[in-house]
Amino acid sequence: MKVFLKTYGCQMNERDSEALTGLLQEAGFIISDSPDDADAVLFNTCSVREHAEERIWSNLGQLKKKGPSLSLRINHANKKIIGVIGCMAQNYKDEIFKRAPIVDLVVGPNDLLSVPILIKNIVKEKSRALAVSTMEREQDFYVSNFRENKNHAYVVISEGCSNFCSYCVVPYVRGRLHCRNPQDILDEVKRTIELGIKDVTLLGQNVNSYKFEGIDFVKLLRMVNDMEGLKNFSFLTSHPKDVSKELFPMMRDLEKIKKSLHLPVQSGSDRILKMMNRGYAVSHYRKLAEEYRKTVGGLLSTDVIIGFPSETEEDFKKTCGLFKEIQFDSAYIFKYSSRPHTEAQNLSDSVSVEEKEKRHKILLDLQKNISKNKRCPK
Ligand code: SAH
Ligand code: SF4
Ligand code: F3S
Repeated sequence: MKVFLKTYGCQMNERDSEALTGLLQEAGFIISDSPDDADAVLFNTCSVREHAEERIWSNLGQLKKKGPSLSLRINHANKKIIGVIGCMAQNYKDEIFKRAPIVDLVVGPNDLLSVPILIKNIVKEKSRALAVSTMEREQDFYVSNFRENKNHAYVVISEGCSNFCSYCVVPYVRGRLHCRNPQDILDEVKRTIELGIKDVTLLGQNVNSYKFEGIDFVKLLRMVNDMEGLKNFSFLTSHPKDVSKELFPMMRDLEKIKKSLHLPVQSGSDRILKMMNRGYAVSHYRKLAEEYRKTVGGLLSTDVIIGFPSETEEDFKKTCGLFKEIQFDSAYIFKYSSRPHTEAQNLSDSVSVEEKEKRHKILLDLQKNISKNKRCPK
């Protein structure tokens, strides 16, 4: 059987798709690079903003023209199995079958280990399959040695998130923070080095909250740095409230660590940060940025959300002011999108689409200028 797998969303999803590809191959499936000649088409999906989900619904709508779900067309051989896996699967569960009857398979991010067996069952039983039960992976998922990219590898150090920022769906679709055993992490790094990959990025929604028995994030960094044969490594994503005092001196001193930090600020207004449940004030962020530049001296990038419920012109100006002050090397600027399950969903999405568009453009232009001046200073 041939499987085509398309990935949306963040690096975590990319890594999940890669690990799943390895598991599928080990189970005897052939990975296809086109949906047309595949027997199964899987979408690994993202729920972080409404726009991300709309793309998937629209893809499923396009496929619908080609016929209903396998289970409803039992007598027709040669039809494709359509699967929705990842964050949207967890977010909508069996509702996906109703909204998109063409779908045969729905599997949440923490149940991906069962995808190969579920596909085989669908073929055998001619019935749909749903697996969205687990909120924490019970077994190590990253057991396959398959790597898509031969120069760089993602290695997951923690899954899920327990921060519950008020706008964010991730804790609801990925489950609570679960830190991988450092031995499993180091084994995986070793296996990637043996494949000839010498550049690694450690992944987690909030890497700074990593803790496994006596090992915290900074200790883990030192252990990874000591791996023989590794050339360099970095990590994603840091949370301002959990960055420890030791982090920047450690980044300075470890020779293999890349001098680059992605530190999402989300807003330049204390009032909004509080409503976002981020757990820090702008002054704390400012201090971290200063300390990082003084101690490590590398690149600094950020994420920001504009148009959070009740964000005023004044709040927005504070964000612009912070951008001018900090001079990020780069920034991802997102328009607020109300998400199911989240606390902020209960607030009125008060900033109009037009106003969000306007603020987005202003901040984007501001950052473009900053980035340009940093690349080629006048
Ligand atoms: N764990 C990481 C990344 C989470 S998702 C972190 O905490 O930084 C990546 C980015 O998407 C976030 O940093 C945030 O800026 C943005 N984001 C998350 N939920 C959003 C929402 N509901 N609307 C708009 N942007 C959102
Ligand atoms: Fe979402 Fe906040 Fe967790 Fe990041 S830290 S994944 S923004 S809840
Ligand atoms: Fe990532 Fe999107 Fe899920 S950002 S964790 S794929 S909701």
